Amino acid sequence: MSDEHVVEYDENTISVLEAVWGEGFMSPGGTEEVDRVLGNVDLSQARVLDIGCGIGGAAVHIALTRKPMAITGVDIEENLVDLSQTLADKNGVSDICSFQQVDPGPLPFESESFDIVFSKDSIIHITDKFGLAENVYQLLAPGGLFLASDWLCGYEGEASPQMQAYIDAEGLDFGLASANIYRQALEAAGFVDIEIEERNAWYRNQARIERDNLAGPLSDQLASRVGENFLKRQIDVWNKMIVVLDSGEHRPTLIRARKNS
Ligand SMILES: C[S@@+](CC[C@H](N)C(=O)[O-])C[C@H]1O[C@@H](n2cnc3c(N)ncnc32)[C@H](O)[C@@H]1O
Repeated sequence: MSDEHVVEYDENTISVLEAVWGEGFMSPGGTEEVDRVLGNVDLSQARVLDIGCGIGGAAVHIALTRKPMAITGVDIEENLVDLSQTLADKNGVSDICSFQQVDPGPLPFESESFDIVFSKDSIIHITDKFGLAENVYQLLAPGGLFLASDWLCGYEGEASPQMQAYIDAEGLDFGLASANIYRQALEAAGFVDIEIEERNAWYRNQARIERDNLAGPLSDQLASRVGENFLKRQIDVWNKMIVVLDSGEHRPTLIRARKNS
């Protein structure tokens, strides 16, 4: 990783996200949304890769409930990889879970190393969807599945002023793309059985509950941990996000695709 890399998910951000989304999670929906992404796929013999594992909640949940042969979480931020390892140790799943810090770009694994490539709300940070799809395809064994959740956009081209205001408020390195672009990228890589499941309607309601929790029951405890101003800025992010969820520009989406056998 270059020396200029700025840590995007710092301690205060993690505190707020875990308070809203649950231990180990930096994305909405917690374990239920992970289960929804995975569906009833049997992972018991699978080697699983989790791209953008964050602080490990999804990987640990998968290890505990699906008992894959192995699950490898990768993330570009070393502090997050360390927190993932700590969560796996705490849950007694370090024998099947391992975590690795990686540089952005093609991942450092041999071709066909995984049966499942999973990702939860992380590939939003990877701008080149065609390069990503090609890399995932290469990493999957024949018949392998790409099972992901991500934040997409409902437009191509310029963001509206409201969307731009939301992206600026997040302050994160977003490389948003539409469902159409994801589909094209997956097809170009060779994937088949591509499914795109829209989650905007669900998250539109959920985000309001989260914002009300932040501003209500969670506020005293969080303000004392992260400071009132930080918390206020986070509530502002949620308010701006609700506007673009309502307009349909922000589209949480599940993506599933298969590599031919
Ligand atoms: C919104 S968080 C989601 C984390 C986790 N999947 C979850 O659901 O809690 C996005 C994650 O993607 C990671 N990330 C950003 N760019 C990445 C890249 N090029 N490769 C792998 N991970 C990346 C971030 O460091 C962060 O941990």
